Amino acid sequence: MKAIEIDTRHLFKDLNPGGIDRKEVQAFWPKGQRALWNLQTKRNRGELPFLDLPYRKDTEEILEKAKDLSLRFDPVVVLGIGGSCLAPQAIAHFTFHPWMLLESKAGPNGPKVFFLDNVDPSTCQRALEEAREGNPLVLAISKSGSTLETLSQLLLFLKALKDRFRDWKERLVIITDPKKGPLRELADQEGLRSFPIEEGVVGRYSALSAVGLVPSVALGVNAEELLLGSIEVDRWIREEEGGVALEVAMSLFLLHKNYGKPIWITLTYGDGLFPLGLWRNQLLGESLGKREDLAPTPMVSRGTTDQHSQLQLWLEGPKDKIFTVLGLKEYPSLKLPEEFPRDETYCLWGKEMGEILLSEKKATEFVLEERGCPFYRIDLRNSAKALGGLFFLWEFEVLLLGEFYGIDPLTQPAVERGKRLTWGMLGRKGFEKERKEIEAWEK
Ligand code: PA5
Repeated sequence: MKAIEIDTRHLFKDLNPGGIDRKEVQAFWPKGQRALWNLQTKRNRGELPFLDLPYRKDTEEILEKAKDLSLRFDPVVVLGIGGSCLAPQAIAHFTFHPWMLLESKAGPNGPKVFFLDNVDPSTCQRALEEAREGNPLVLAISKSGSTLETLSQLLLFLKALKDRFRDWKERLVIITDPKKGPLRELADQEGLRSFPIEEGVVGRYSALSAVGLVPSVALGVNAEELLLGSIEVDRWIREEEGGVALEVAMSLFLLHKNYGKPIWITLTYGDGLFPLGLWRNQLLGESLGKREDLAPTPMVSRGTTDQHSQLQLWLEGPKDKIFTVLGLKEYPSLKLPEEFPRDETYCLWGKEMGEILLSEKKATEFVLEERGCPFYRIDLRNSAKALGGLFFLWEFEVLLLGEFYGIDPLTQPAVERGKRLTWGMLGRKGFEKERKEIEAWEK
Protein backbone atom coordinates (compact mmCIF):
# COMPACT_ATOMS: atom_id res chain seq x y z
CA MET A 1 0.00 0.00 0.00
CA LYS A 2 1.55 3.25 -1.11
CA ALA A 3 0.32 5.33 1.83
CA ILE A 4 2.30 3.06 4.18
CA GLU A 5 5.65 1.49 3.45
CA ILE A 6 7.15 -1.14 5.70
CA ASP A 7 10.71 -2.38 5.52
CA THR A 8 11.41 -5.40 7.73
CA ARG A 9 14.89 -6.33 6.47
CA HIS A 10 16.69 -5.05 9.54
CA LEU A 11 14.84 -7.42 11.85
CA PHE A 12 16.75 -10.33 10.35
CA LYS A 13 20.13 -11.82 11.07
CA ASP A 14 21.35 -11.70 7.45
CA LEU A 15 21.61 -7.89 7.83
CA ASN A 16 21.41 -7.27 11.56
CA PRO A 17 23.69 -9.29 13.89
CA GLY A 18 21.09 -8.99 16.70
CA GLY A 19 18.21 -9.95 14.44
CA ILE A 20 16.22 -13.11 14.07
CA ASP A 21 17.09 -16.03 11.84
CA ARG A 22 14.71 -16.01 8.86
CA LYS A 23 14.43 -19.77 9.04
CA GLU A 24 12.96 -19.47 12.52
CA VAL A 25 10.23 -17.20 11.24
CA GLN A 26 9.58 -19.54 8.32
CA ALA A 27 9.32 -22.48 10.71
CA PHE A 28 6.74 -20.51 12.71
CA TRP A 29 4.72 -19.71 9.58
CA PRO A 30 2.15 -22.53 10.05
CA LYS A 31 1.41 -21.18 13.57
CA GLY A 32 1.06 -17.74 12.02
CA GLN A 33 -1.43 -19.06 9.49
CA ARG A 34 -3.36 -20.79 12.26
CA ALA A 35 -3.50 -17.49 14.18
CA LEU A 36 -4.84 -15.77 11.08
CA TRP A 37 -7.43 -18.47 10.67
CA ASN A 38 -8.48 -18.16 14.34
CA LEU A 39 -8.86 -14.42 13.99
CA GLN A 40 -10.91 -14.86 10.83
CA THR A 41 -13.17 -17.34 12.65
CA LYS A 42 -13.59 -14.94 15.56
CA ARG A 43 -14.30 -12.14 13.15
CA ASN A 44 -16.93 -14.22 11.35
CA ARG A 45 -18.54 -14.96 14.71
CA GLY A 46 -18.76 -11.22 15.41
CA GLU A 47 -16.22 -11.31 18.26
CA LEU A 48 -13.95 -8.65 16.74
CA PRO A 49 -16.53 -6.08 15.62
CA PHE A 50 -14.01 -3.23 15.60
CA LEU A 51 -12.29 -4.76 12.56
CA ASP A 52 -15.48 -4.32 10.58
CA LEU A 53 -16.24 -0.74 11.63
CA PRO A 54 -15.10 0.77 8.30
CA TYR A 55 -17.67 -1.34 6.42
CA ARG A 56 -20.65 -0.83 8.67
CA LYS A 57 -23.83 1.06 7.87
CA ASP A 58 -23.88 2.65 11.34
CA THR A 59 -20.40 4.08 10.69
CA GLU A 60 -21.85 5.86 7.68
CA GLU A 61 -24.71 7.10 9.87
CA ILE A 62 -22.24 8.43 12.44
CA LEU A 63 -20.45 10.45 9.77
CA GLU A 64 -23.75 11.79 8.44
CA LYS A 65 -25.03 12.72 11.89
CA ALA A 66 -21.76 14.41 12.86
CA LYS A 67 -21.51 16.45 9.65
CA ASP A 68 -22.93 19.68 11.03
CA LEU A 69 -20.43 19.70 13.91
CA SER A 70 -17.65 20.28 11.42
CA LEU A 71 -15.65 23.44 12.11
CA ARG A 72 -18.59 25.18 13.80
CA PHE A 73 -17.11 25.49 17.26
CA ASP A 74 -14.00 26.91 18.88
CA PRO A 75 -12.69 25.52 21.19
CA VAL A 76 -13.38 21.82 20.91
CA VAL A 77 -12.84 20.06 24.23
CA VAL A 78 -12.51 16.29 24.34
CA LEU A 79 -13.33 14.70 27.70
CA GLY A 80 -12.13 11.15 28.13
CA ILE A 81 -9.14 9.05 29.03
CA GLY A 82 -7.16 6.08 27.73
CA GLY A 83 -8.72 4.43 24.71
CA SER A 84 -11.41 7.11 24.65
CA CYS A 85 -8.92 9.91 24.16
CA LEU A 86 -5.63 8.65 22.73
CA ALA A 87 -6.89 7.94 19.21
CA PRO A 88 -8.57 11.32 18.58
CA GLN A 89 -5.48 12.93 20.07
CA ALA A 90 -3.20 11.00 17.72
CA ILE A 91 -5.41 11.91 14.75
CA ALA A 92 -5.37 15.61 15.63
CA HIS A 93 -1.61 15.73 16.16
CA PHE A 94 -0.85 13.79 13.00
CA THR A 95 -3.16 15.91 10.87
CA PHE A 96 -2.60 19.33 12.37
CA HIS A 97 1.05 19.25 13.13
CA PRO A 98 2.65 21.60 14.24
CA TRP A 99 -0.33 23.73 15.28
CA MET A 100 -1.52 21.12 17.74
CA LEU A 101 1.87 20.84 19.37
CA LEU A 102 2.67 24.52 19.62
CA GLU A 103 -0.74 26.16 19.85
CA SER A 104 -3.26 23.41 20.59
CA LYS A 105 -5.02 24.33 17.36
CA ALA A 106 -6.46 22.23 14.56
CA GLY A 107 -4.50 23.98 11.85
CA PRO A 108 -3.72 27.63 11.12
CA ASN A 109 -7.40 28.60 10.89
CA GLY A 110 -8.86 25.75 12.87
CA PRO A 111 -10.36 25.77 16.34
CA LYS A 112 -8.42 25.37 19.56
CA VAL A 113 -8.53 21.77 20.76
CA PHE A 114 -8.06 20.33 24.22
CA PHE A 115 -7.74 16.65 25.04
CA LEU A 116 -7.97 16.44 28.81
CA ASP A 117 -6.93 12.77 29.17
CA ASN A 118 -6.34 13.25 32.89
CA VAL A 119 -7.65 14.91 36.04
CA ASP A 120 -4.92 17.51 36.31
CA PRO A 121 -6.65 20.56 37.83
CA SER A 122 -4.43 23.08 36.01
CA THR A 123 -5.10 21.60 32.58
CA CYS A 124 -8.82 21.34 33.25
CA GLN A 125 -8.94 24.87 34.64
CA ARG A 126 -7.24 26.34 31.57
CA ALA A 127 -9.51 24.45 29.18
CA LEU A 128 -12.52 25.60 31.19
CA GLU A 129 -11.45 29.23 30.89
CA GLU A 130 -11.14 28.88 27.12
CA ALA A 131 -14.50 27.14 26.95
CA ARG A 132 -16.19 29.87 29.00
CA GLU A 133 -14.88 32.60 26.74
CA GLY A 134 -15.34 30.93 23.37
CA ASN A 135 -17.92 29.11 21.33
CA PRO A 136 -17.26 25.66 22.75
CA LEU A 137 -18.14 22.14 21.75
CA VAL A 138 -17.58 19.50 24.41
CA LEU A 139 -17.25 15.88 23.34
CA ALA A 140 -17.60 13.52 26.30
CA ILE A 141 -16.26 10.09 25.35
CA SER A 142 -16.47 6.97 27.47
CA LYS A 143 -17.42 3.47 26.45
CA SER A 144 -18.50 2.49 29.96
CA GLY A 145 -19.81 5.96 30.74
CA SER A 146 -18.63 5.50 34.31
CA THR A 147 -14.91 6.27 34.20
CA LEU A 148 -13.92 8.40 37.18
CA GLU A 149 -11.68 10.78 35.25
CA THR A 150 -14.21 11.39 32.50
CA LEU A 151 -17.07 11.91 34.95
CA SER A 152 -14.98 14.40 36.94
CA GLN A 153 -14.15 16.33 33.78
CA LEU A 154 -17.81 16.19 32.76
CA LEU A 155 -19.07 17.72 36.01
CA LEU A 156 -16.88 20.76 35.42
CA PHE A 157 -17.88 21.28 31.81
CA LEU A 158 -21.55 20.49 32.33
CA LYS A 159 -21.77 23.26 34.91
CA ALA A 160 -19.72 25.68 32.83
CA LEU A 161 -21.89 25.10 29.76
CA LYS A 162 -25.15 25.35 31.69
CA ASP A 163 -24.02 28.54 33.43
CA ARG A 164 -23.09 30.35 30.27
CA PHE A 165 -25.10 28.99 27.36
CA ARG A 166 -28.85 28.76 26.95
CA ASP A 167 -28.19 26.37 24.10
CA TRP A 168 -25.84 24.20 26.22
CA LYS A 169 -27.52 21.05 24.91
CA GLU A 170 -26.26 21.88 21.44
CA ARG A 171 -22.73 22.07 22.78
CA LEU A 172 -22.42 18.81 24.65
CA VAL A 173 -22.11 15.63 22.63
CA ILE A 174 -21.97 12.20 24.23
CA ILE A 175 -20.11 9.23 22.76
CA THR A 176 -20.80 6.09 24.77
CA ASP A 177 -22.46 2.69 24.99
CA PRO A 178 -25.78 2.71 23.12
CA LYS A 179 -27.74 1.20 26.00
CA LYS A 180 -26.16 1.57 29.40
CA GLY A 181 -24.02 3.65 31.77
CA PRO A 182 -24.26 7.11 33.34
CA LEU A 183 -23.31 8.97 30.15
CA ARG A 184 -26.03 7.14 28.23
CA GLU A 185 -28.51 8.10 30.96
CA LEU A 186 -27.46 11.74 30.76
CA ALA A 187 -27.79 11.80 26.99
CA ASP A 188 -31.24 10.18 27.11
CA GLN A 189 -32.54 12.29 30.01
CA GLU A 190 -31.43 15.60 28.54
CA GLY A 191 -32.00 14.73 24.90
CA LEU A 192 -28.36 15.34 24.01
CA ARG A 193 -26.86 14.43 20.70
CA SER A 194 -25.13 11.11 21.17
CA PHE A 195 -23.17 8.55 19.22
CA PRO A 196 -22.88 4.86 20.03
CA ILE A 197 -19.79 2.81 20.77
CA GLU A 198 -21.15 -0.60 19.94
CA GLU A 199 -20.73 -3.72 22.06
CA GLY A 200 -17.38 -5.40 21.59
CA VAL A 201 -15.64 -2.20 20.52
CA VAL A 202 -13.04 -2.04 23.27
CA GLY A 203 -11.54 1.38 24.14
CA ARG A 204 -8.09 0.88 22.65
CA TYR A 205 -9.56 -0.66 19.50
CA SER A 206 -12.09 2.14 19.01
CA ALA A 207 -10.07 4.54 16.84
CA LEU A 208 -12.31 3.94 13.82
CA SER A 209 -15.59 4.10 15.75
CA ALA A 210 -17.42 7.26 16.83
CA VAL A 211 -14.54 7.74 19.32
CA GLY A 212 -12.11 8.69 16.55
CA LEU A 213 -14.58 9.72 13.87
CA VAL A 214 -16.74 12.32 15.64
CA PRO A 215 -13.80 14.43 16.90
CA SER A 216 -12.26 14.05 13.43
CA VAL A 217 -15.36 15.46 11.76
CA ALA A 218 -15.60 18.26 14.34
CA LEU A 219 -12.01 19.26 13.57
CA GLY A 220 -12.33 18.99 9.80
CA VAL A 221 -10.28 15.78 9.33
CA ASN A 222 -11.25 13.66 6.34
CA ALA A 223 -12.83 10.78 8.26
CA GLU A 224 -13.84 8.92 5.07
CA GLU A 225 -10.16 8.71 4.18
CA LEU A 226 -9.31 7.29 7.60
CA LEU A 227 -11.81 4.51 6.95
CA LEU A 228 -10.65 3.96 3.42
CA GLY A 229 -7.06 3.58 4.58
CA SER A 230 -8.06 0.89 7.04
CA ILE A 231 -10.07 -0.94 4.37
CA GLU A 232 -7.02 -0.96 2.10
CA VAL A 233 -4.82 -2.44 4.82
CA ASP A 234 -7.48 -5.01 5.67
CA ARG A 235 -7.63 -6.12 2.01
CA TRP A 236 -3.89 -6.12 1.71
CA ILE A 237 -3.54 -8.39 4.78
CA ARG A 238 -6.15 -10.78 3.40
CA GLU A 239 -4.75 -10.89 -0.12
CA GLU A 240 -1.26 -11.60 1.14
CA GLU A 241 -2.38 -14.12 3.78
CA GLY A 242 -1.08 -11.95 6.57
CA GLY A 243 1.82 -10.56 4.56
CA VAL A 244 4.05 -8.11 6.31
CA ALA A 245 1.65 -7.71 9.26
CA LEU A 246 2.07 -11.38 10.08
CA GLU A 247 5.80 -11.32 9.42
CA VAL A 248 6.26 -8.44 11.89
CA ALA A 249 4.02 -9.97 14.57
CA MET A 250 5.82 -13.32 14.35
CA SER A 251 9.25 -11.66 14.44
CA LEU A 252 8.37 -9.50 17.45
CA PHE A 253 7.04 -12.50 19.33
CA LEU A 254 10.00 -14.75 18.50
CA LEU A 255 12.56 -12.04 19.20
CA HIS A 256 10.96 -11.66 22.60
CA LYS A 257 10.53 -15.34 23.43
CA ASN A 258 13.73 -16.77 21.99
CA TYR A 259 16.11 -13.81 21.92
CA GLY A 260 15.23 -12.04 25.20
CA LYS A 261 13.85 -8.81 23.72
CA PRO A 262 10.83 -7.71 25.75
CA ILE A 263 11.20 -3.95 25.29
CA TRP A 264 9.50 -2.65 22.16
CA ILE A 265 10.19 0.95 21.34
CA THR A 266 8.23 2.99 18.83
CA LEU A 267 10.77 5.58 17.76
CA THR A 268 9.04 8.46 15.99
CA TYR A 269 10.74 10.86 13.60
CA GLY A 270 8.34 13.80 13.32
CA ASP A 271 6.74 15.41 16.38
CA GLY A 272 3.25 14.89 14.97
CA LEU A 273 3.81 11.11 15.14
CA PHE A 274 4.62 10.96 18.82
CA PRO A 275 0.97 10.75 20.08
CA LEU A 276 0.48 7.88 17.64
CA GLY A 277 3.29 6.12 19.51
CA LEU A 278 1.44 6.80 22.77
CA TRP A 279 -1.70 5.27 21.30
CA ARG A 280 0.27 2.15 20.31
CA ASN A 281 1.80 2.02 23.79
CA GLN A 282 -1.62 1.63 25.31
CA LEU A 283 -2.72 -0.86 22.68
CA LEU A 284 0.29 -3.10 23.27
CA GLY A 285 0.57 -2.62 27.03
CA GLU A 286 -3.05 -3.11 28.03
CA SER A 287 -3.68 -5.85 25.48
CA LEU A 288 -0.60 -8.01 25.98
CA GLY A 289 0.40 -7.34 29.58
CA LYS A 290 -1.13 -10.51 30.98
CA ARG A 291 1.59 -13.06 31.65
CA GLU A 292 4.14 -12.69 34.39
CA ASP A 293 6.60 -14.83 32.48
CA LEU A 294 6.18 -13.27 29.04
CA ALA A 295 4.76 -9.85 28.22
CA PRO A 296 6.38 -7.11 26.17
CA THR A 297 6.94 -3.64 27.61
CA PRO A 298 6.11 -0.99 25.00
CA MET A 299 7.76 2.42 25.01
CA VAL A 300 7.64 5.45 22.79
CA SER A 301 10.63 7.66 22.00
CA ARG A 302 11.12 10.78 19.99
CA GLY A 303 13.80 11.13 17.34
CA THR A 304 16.03 13.03 17.28
CA THR A 305 15.38 14.21 20.87
CA ASP A 306 15.92 10.83 22.52
CA GLN A 307 19.16 10.28 20.64
CA HIS A 308 20.43 12.73 23.26
CA SER A 309 18.71 10.91 26.08
CA GLN A 310 18.25 7.18 25.44
CA LEU A 311 20.51 6.21 22.55
CA GLN A 312 23.52 5.55 24.77
CA LEU A 313 21.47 3.02 26.73
CA TRP A 314 20.10 1.40 23.59
CA LEU A 315 23.57 0.94 22.13
CA GLU A 316 25.60 -0.13 25.14
CA GLY A 317 22.92 -1.28 27.58
CA PRO A 318 21.22 -4.67 27.57
CA LYS A 319 20.27 -5.96 24.13
CA ASP A 320 16.66 -6.41 25.14
CA LYS A 321 14.95 -4.02 22.72
CA ILE A 322 13.28 -3.99 19.31
CA PHE A 323 12.61 -0.74 17.49
CA THR A 324 9.77 0.34 15.24
CA VAL A 325 11.19 3.36 13.48
CA LEU A 326 8.21 5.45 12.42
CA GLY A 327 8.70 8.28 9.96
CA LEU A 328 7.03 10.28 7.21
CA LYS A 329 7.62 9.84 3.51
CA GLU A 330 7.94 13.58 3.08
CA TYR A 331 8.71 16.45 5.39
CA PRO A 332 7.83 20.04 4.57
CA SER A 333 10.45 22.30 3.10
CA LEU A 334 12.46 24.50 5.46
CA LYS A 335 15.85 25.58 4.11
CA LEU A 336 18.67 26.67 6.38
CA PRO A 337 20.03 30.09 5.46
CA GLU A 338 23.69 30.97 4.87
CA GLU A 339 24.41 32.47 8.25
CA PHE A 340 27.11 32.21 10.92
CA PRO A 341 30.11 31.06 8.82
CA ARG A 342 32.00 28.27 10.58
CA ASP A 343 33.42 24.88 9.62
CA GLU A 344 30.48 23.34 11.48
CA THR A 345 27.83 25.36 9.63
CA TYR A 346 29.01 25.48 5.97
CA CYS A 347 27.62 22.03 5.20
CA LEU A 348 24.25 23.09 6.63
CA TRP A 349 23.82 26.07 4.31
CA GLY A 350 20.96 25.56 1.92
CA LYS A 351 20.09 22.18 3.43
CA GLU A 352 16.49 21.18 4.15
CA MET A 353 15.80 20.70 7.84
CA GLY A 354 13.93 17.51 6.86
CA GLU A 355 17.18 16.24 5.33
CA ILE A 356 18.88 16.77 8.67
CA LEU A 357 16.13 14.84 10.44
CA LEU A 358 16.41 12.01 7.90
CA SER A 359 20.20 11.93 8.12
CA GLU A 360 19.93 11.60 11.90
CA LYS A 361 17.35 8.86 11.46
CA LYS A 362 19.59 6.99 9.04
CA ALA A 363 22.64 7.36 11.30
CA THR A 364 20.63 6.05 14.26
CA GLU A 365 19.43 3.06 12.24
CA PHE A 366 23.02 2.43 11.18
CA VAL A 367 24.37 2.39 14.72
CA LEU A 368 21.43 0.33 15.98
CA GLU A 369 22.32 -2.28 13.40
CA GLU A 370 26.03 -2.02 14.11
CA ARG A 371 25.30 -2.79 17.77
CA GLY A 372 22.93 -5.61 16.94
CA CYS A 373 19.63 -3.92 17.83
CA PRO A 374 16.85 -5.18 15.52
CA PHE A 375 14.50 -2.62 14.02
CA TYR A 376 11.99 -2.23 11.25
CA ARG A 377 10.80 0.84 9.45
CA ILE A 378 7.34 2.24 8.78
CA ASP A 379 7.09 5.30 6.57
CA LEU A 380 3.77 7.07 6.22
CA ARG A 381 2.40 9.45 3.66
CA ASN A 382 1.06 12.55 5.35
CA SER A 383 -2.59 11.59 4.79
CA ALA A 384 -5.64 10.47 6.72
CA LYS A 385 -5.58 7.32 4.61
CA ALA A 386 -2.14 6.34 5.87
CA LEU A 387 -3.21 7.03 9.45
CA GLY A 388 -6.40 4.95 9.18
CA GLY A 389 -4.34 2.16 7.63
CA LEU A 390 -1.83 2.23 10.46
CA PHE A 391 -4.57 2.09 13.11
CA PHE A 392 -5.90 -1.05 11.46
CA LEU A 393 -2.47 -2.56 10.95
CA TRP A 394 -1.44 -2.11 14.57
CA GLU A 395 -4.75 -3.35 15.93
CA PHE A 396 -4.46 -6.45 13.76
CA GLU A 397 -0.84 -6.94 14.81
CA VAL A 398 -1.85 -6.95 18.49
CA LEU A 399 -4.60 -9.48 17.82
CA LEU A 400 -2.07 -11.77 16.15
CA LEU A 401 0.30 -11.27 19.07
CA GLY A 402 -2.53 -12.17 21.45
CA GLU A 403 -2.81 -15.50 19.63
CA PHE A 404 0.94 -16.10 19.92
CA TYR A 405 1.15 -15.19 23.62
CA GLY A 406 -1.96 -17.23 24.29
CA ILE A 407 -3.83 -14.42 26.03
CA ASP A 408 -7.04 -12.48 25.42
CA PRO A 409 -5.94 -9.06 24.12
CA LEU A 410 -9.40 -7.52 24.58
CA THR A 411 -9.57 -7.43 28.36
CA GLN A 412 -7.78 -5.47 31.13
CA PRO A 413 -8.87 -7.21 34.35
CA ALA A 414 -5.99 -6.04 36.54
CA VAL A 415 -6.78 -2.32 36.26
CA GLU A 416 -10.14 -2.81 38.03
CA ARG A 417 -8.51 -3.14 41.46
CA GLY A 418 -6.93 0.34 41.40
CA LYS A 419 -10.15 1.86 40.09
CA ARG A 420 -12.16 0.31 42.93
CA LEU A 421 -9.68 1.50 45.56
CA THR A 422 -9.86 5.03 44.17
CA TRP A 423 -13.66 5.02 44.30
CA GLY A 424 -13.39 3.73 47.87
CA MET A 425 -11.12 6.63 48.89
CA LEU A 426 -13.51 9.08 47.31
CA GLY A 427 -16.39 7.65 49.33
CA ARG A 428 -18.48 6.06 46.60
CA LYS A 429 -21.33 3.93 47.90
CA GLY A 430 -20.64 0.23 47.57
CA PHE A 431 -16.88 0.66 47.82
CA GLU A 432 -16.59 0.77 51.64
CA LYS A 433 -14.48 -2.40 51.76
CA GLU A 434 -11.87 -0.84 49.49
CA ARG A 435 -11.86 2.32 51.58
CA LYS A 436 -11.09 0.30 54.70
CA GLU A 437 -8.33 -1.59 52.89
CA ILE A 438 -6.62 1.65 51.86
CA GLU A 439 -6.98 3.14 55.33
CA ALA A 440 -5.43 0.04 56.91
CA TRP A 441 -2.61 0.10 54.38
CA GLU A 442 -1.83 3.75 55.06
CA LYS A 443 -1.38 3.24 58.81
O1 PA5 B 1 -8.83 0.21 26.27
C1 PA5 B 1 -9.58 0.34 27.23
O2 PA5 B 1 -10.61 -0.34 27.34
C2 PA5 B 1 -9.34 1.37 28.30
O3 PA5 B 1 -8.13 1.99 28.16
C3 PA5 B 1 -10.43 2.42 28.28
O4 PA5 B 1 -10.45 3.03 27.03
C4 PA5 B 1 -10.25 3.48 29.36
O5 PA5 B 1 -10.13 2.87 30.61
C5 PA5 B 1 -11.43 4.42 29.37
O6 PA5 B 1 -12.61 3.72 29.53
P1 PA5 B 1 -14.00 4.30 29.08
O7 PA5 B 1 -13.98 4.46 27.61
O8 PA5 B 1 -15.00 3.28 29.53
O9 PA5 B 1 -14.17 5.60 29.80
